[in-house]
Amino acid sequence: MYKVLIVGAGNIASEYDDATSTVFLTHAHAFVNHPHFELIGFVDPDIIKGINASSKWGTRHFTNLDQAFKYYSNIDIVCIAVPDDLHFNVLQQVANYRPKLVFTEKPLTNTLEQAHIIERLYRELHIPVLINFKRAFIPEILDVINSVKRNDFGEFKNCYGFYNRGFKHNASHLLDLIIRFTGCKELKLMNVIDSISDFSIDDPSHSFVASTDNNAVVVIKSFSGESYPIFELDLHYSSGRIRLFNTGEKLEIYRVQPSSAFSGVNFLQPKDCIDTSLHQSMLHAANNIFEYLSMGKPLRVPIADGIEVMKLTEQVLKDIKNKSCLN
Ligand SMILES: NC(=O)c1ccc[n+]([C@@H]2O[C@H](COP(=O)([O-])OP(=O)(O)OC[C@H]3O[C@@H](n4cnc5c(N)ncnc54)[C@H](O)[C@@H]3O)[C@@H](O)[C@H]2O)c1
Repeated sequence: MYKVLIVGAGNIASEYDDATSTVFLTHAHAFVNHPHFELIGFVDPDIIKGINASSKWGTRHFTNLDQAFKYYSNIDIVCIAVPDDLHFNVLQQVANYRPKLVFTEKPLTNTLEQAHIIERLYRELHIPVLINFKRAFIPEILDVINSVKRNDFGEFKNCYGFYNRGFKHNASHLLDLIIRFTGCKELKLMNVIDSISDFSIDDPSHSFVASTDNNAVVVIKSFSGESYPIFELDLHYSSGRIRLFNTGEKLEIYRVQPSSAFSGVNFLQPKDCIDTSLHQSMLHAANNIFEYLSMGKPLRVPIADGIEVMKLTEQVLKDIKNKSCLN
């Protein structure tokens, strides 16, 4: 059994579900349920959060990392589920204890510079890092990405993404998916639509239009998360369309086919609507960790993927800032 410690005892660590849920939305639920892991505790300086989580999941509460690693010297996996701006510090602290693997929440860090520091540190210590871009663990989504890579959908033409509640916080998920679905790792900013602070003033939600190397157009639009959370991606290719909606619970597949009404005219026709196992994402991630450690299978979201997202994030933010200065 691999011993797991969760740092942070809030929503995604403990609170979004419970042991009776059929969904796996928390780190705790996945590791408590998995036969090859033992959840040995939570670290949280907030005593109430820590006690609530540890009693809910039948484990221990520690107020800091030192306490946890003094109690158990052989902790294999550390999950990091603290607020975004603490990822960098906590990743640095956790490395001192040399676990076998670190599973960290997104975004990897606040800046690309910090991400490079973490990447170097963990590479030198030979500690693998897995990042929780949850849609990259979902078999139904991966199947469609593989189909795109086999060129089943033809050439990428354009995409429209909706998100809210922070560019780094949530659009990082969109950027990760755009890289996976298109292979495009750079964007050229064409227009800024607007920017709103619906998550934090340090991480506004930007809306913009950009283009790729192949002149495909990428439109990313946000609107206030106060109305409702949104996460959608609509990708058009020369011979089909992929629409991911309901935050990724559903995938619609369209193919270009001859119209039944207009002779000689091709239309996009809906072909398939897939219910994904998005809400089992934590279980898929735990399985990926188990298969990596025990069978040497690849990590689905290694640190290199997190760095690519950080590069794209900083590039877009820099271009938005430059464009705003010009206007
Ligand atoms: N991958 C996803 O789909 C997804 C979904 C939700 C949240 N997240 C990410 O998970 C992280 C946590 O989000 P949340 O909504 O659970 O936040 P939260 O505020 O509910 O919980 C964070 C917890 O961390 C604790 N904490 C603060 N400083 C700490 C420290 N130094 N050591 C240990 N614990 C500390 C807080 O007391 C709190 O209990 C964020 O980075 C967020 O972006 C990811």
